[in-house]
Amino acid sequence: ARFLTLTALMVLVMAGCQEPTMSVLDPKGTVAEEQLSLIQLSVYIMTFVCVVVIGIFVYVLIRFRAKPGDNSIPEQVEGNMKLEILWTVIPIILLAIFAVPTVQKTFSLAEEAPAEGEPLRVKVTAHQYWWEFEYPDLGITTAQEMVIPTGERVYLELESKDVIHSFWVPKLAGKQDLVPGRTNTMWLDAKEPGVYAGRCAELCGASHALMNFEVKAQEPQEFEQWVDERQNPSSEPQNAQQEAGKEVFSQNCMSCHAIDGTAFKTKGEEAPNLTGFGHREKIAGLLEFNDKNLEEWLKNPEDVKPGTYMPSFDYLSDEDMDNLKAYLKSLE
Ligand code: CUA
Repeated sequence: ARFLTLTALMVLVMAGCQEPTMSVLDPKGTVAEEQLSLIQLSVYIMTFVCVVVIGIFVYVLIRFRAKPGDNSIPEQVEGNMKLEILWTVIPIILLAIFAVPTVQKTFSLAEEAPAEGEPLRVKVTAHQYWWEFEYPDLGITTAQEMVIPTGERVYLELESKDVIHSFWVPKLAGKQDLVPGRTNTMWLDAKEPGVYAGRCAELCGASHALMNFEVKAQEPQEFEQWVDERQNPSSEPQNAQQEAGKEVFSQNCMSCHAIDGTAFKTKGEEAPNLTGFGHREKIAGLLEFNDKNLEEWLKNPEDVKPGTYMPSFDYLSDEDMDNLKAYLKSLE
């Protein structure tokens, strides 16, 4: 009973507190739907067990309570084979009812990309504290935002560069661990276009709670357009300020950050690839995208994300800082 009350409370709390884009109870993809159906099945079974057990308990309490003035010792019972078998077999049946679909779904969700056809594959690499999304068949690498087409299975290969992280997009799928030295697989799909919040769901260090990302699901046509833009990025400065900012970038940032379509190529191994940065929804996967936050991130990354490997650039002159911001925002 306590468990049921707690579960009910937790469901209420979870439903009430989370951002609208993060509810497990409002799935927008096949995987999340199947996971919700498992959650519901387990809640039904637990509710049934609780009702039966509490019902018998209350009945026995009332039916066999001591009558006033009756001090006799009740009949002493030792062992009851039929009952013992009954209350062993019923839980086994209940567990089997729950285990069969759970195991089935666990395996089907871990399916790898089929060899034939052209499945969309994304290699997800977790870093302290950011996410890298590489589309090996499309030659695209991005960070913090995974763009996918709606209505199509996307096959993920999950790896970690440092410690164990966990990939979780409550409305679509997850969680799946990213373990150093090992490749895990999963797939997901999105049934409707939208921006779905993602979280790291495994304690991984000081900024674990800030290791956010987003999944942007777009209509297939729009996705094709995005692929085309990313394959032919327009990263050339459009004015003198952006030109000057590019110079600042080359002196301060290019040893870690790559930008496709420019000479800035570090294979994107050390830090997020910044192609299309000007289109990002968030800065560092976290802050609202605006001028003030961009400057805050560049000057005090340690305040924004404790433990980040991004160094502070507060030594830049105001002019250099403005130029750098102008350049970064121009990246499309
Ligand atoms: Cu990565 Cu928690």
